[in-house]
Amino acid sequence: MTNADTPQPASWESINELAAAVRSCTDCGLHTSRTNAVPGSGASNAKILIIGEGPGLNEDQQGLPFVGRSGKLLDELLAEVPLSREDVFITNVVKCRPPENRDPLPDEVASCRPYLDRQMQLLDPKVIVTLGRVSMLRFHPTGKISEDHGKILEWEGRVLFPLYHPAAGLRNPAIKRELQKDVLRLPEALEEWARLSANASVTQ
Ligand code: URA
Repeated sequence: MTNADTPQPASWESINELAAAVRSCTDCGLHTSRTNAVPGSGASNAKILIIGEGPGLNEDQQGLPFVGRSGKLLDELLAEVPLSREDVFITNVVKCRPPENRDPLPDEVASCRPYLDRQMQLLDPKVIVTLGRVSMLRFHPTGKISEDHGKILEWEGRVLFPLYHPAAGLRNPAIKRELQKDVLRLPEALEEWARLSANASVTQ
């Protein structure tokens, strides 16, 4: 893809303005089956942006991200570091629930992309934590979640920190153990950002 072909993030002026646009969005077929769109929630000055795949049943009902069983595990993982929801911003690759929790289709991911791109511009996070394969592929298209989970990577001047999805951890105790081990590297991921930005200012 050339730069000219790359969709440019639309210019919502704030996270709240963007959230209002998400709530009334009809850009892809997912809006026909949703109860609520789920723009995301958390601190607008958060250093850490956590990106899941798409809302599930509970999230669709409440309009908030990660409020079901996966969210409970996510809260427990964050508490290990220790962080809480007030310290991070949480959103998803697609903002409306895919029916039966199937993976979002490529055209649904593409329709929702301007929202995620603009959220990244507005929030300007230091560390992007992706949860699961679909979210990791948005930033690391050649990645493999079984190999790349828990690695501290660089993406466009930010730190990319892919983790398994908490739902996978709930299904598989071995994956849950990997998640519990990987999340302990989150402080290291933040240190890596400090190192990256110090290097960038030296070479400017
Ligand atoms: N799974 C996700 O990927 N996102 C949510 O918000 C909830 C469950």
